[in-house]
Amino acid sequence: MKGRVVLIGPGRLGQAIARLLCDAGYDLRALISRDPVRAVAAARFAGCRNAASADLSRVAEGELILLALPDDQLGAMAATLRRDGHLRPGATLIHFSGLHPAAILLGKEGPPLRALSLHPLQTFADSVMGVRNLPGTTFAVEGTPDVIPLGEALVADLGGRSLVLSAEQKPLYHAAACVASNYMVTLVDTACQIFSACGFGQEEAFHYLTPLLRGTGRNLAALGPKLALTGPIARGDVRTVGKHLRAIAHLPGGVDQIYRILGIKTVELALKKGTLDAEAAEEILRLLESDGES
Ligand SMILES: NC(=O)c1ccc[n+]([C@@H]2O[C@H](COP(=O)([O-])OP(=O)(O)OC[C@H]3O[C@@H](n4cnc5c(N)ncnc54)[C@H](OP(=O)(O)O)[C@@H]3O)[C@@H](O)[C@H]2O)c1
Repeated sequence: MKGRVVLIGPGRLGQAIARLLCDAGYDLRALISRDPVRAVAAARFAGCRNAASADLSRVAEGELILLALPDDQLGAMAATLRRDGHLRPGATLIHFSGLHPAAILLGKEGPPLRALSLHPLQTFADSVMGVRNLPGTTFAVEGTPDVIPLGEALVADLGGRSLVLSAEQKPLYHAAACVASNYMVTLVDTACQIFSACGFGQEEAFHYLTPLLRGTGRNLAALGPKLALTGPIARGDVRTVGKHLRAIAHLPGGVDQIYRILGIKTVELALKKGTLDAEAAEEILRLLESDGES
């Protein structure tokens, strides 16, 4: 058996991590939820039925204490565990936030502890998809130098790859993750909104867009952003951009601004790619930066 683990917060990420650690041979002593029924369901999912608990004192059984909680709850939960004497000396507290430093878990009071943050650069829309998507995922590993090897070992056992970051690097790193994942989802939703304006439901629009999304994702993964870029801006089709702007001008929710701002970034990328000449780029930028008249 590998280390003794206690996990608090069996949500989307927590359940997936619990399952993968059990599969990797860790001793999951307790899987703690505020709701005993949820704890049982989560422990069943993880494959460690006996681990289900709603009792925070079970934290004393673990040497690796995983806090898979909303970011805003991490400091308060760690403080509660330290205050109530649930942590054994030498225990390592671990959280999964991409933004906060590991040190958020440490305080001045309580036993000597170690702290680590492990952030999977992956999206857990639910725990089943999380288990499926996690192998091969990059994890940002951050903490004091003495805990980094432990973080790297845990990441390897989860099937991931470690990227050691400093606490100072995390806000920028996490903003990048947010744009790549969350904003991409919002952007697809915006595409559905535009599509549906020509007479389809949002879900129908998404259905028609899905093969395009898959193709774009495959091209991106294989070729990188520069070579994956296609479309009117990459080709220098100035009039097409003008017609798009006229078509979307009446749509609510800032669609017009989103199109313009991303269009301007797309001009930069197309110039780097070398398929857009300077003259067409200037004309497109004039349209995109105009105040609505195109
Ligand atoms: N989801 C992702 O895509 C993703 C990706 C990378 C990193 N992360 C990180 O993973 C961590 C967990 O995120 P998540 O998406 O898995 O969250 P989540 O699905 O909302 O799960 C969080 C769990 O924490 C418990 N919880 C919520 N509020 C609490 C409170 N006030 N006190 C105690 N427990 C509370 C809940 O479990 P009970 O109700 O059962 O107690 C809940 O299921 C976060 O630090 C997040 O930044 C998430």
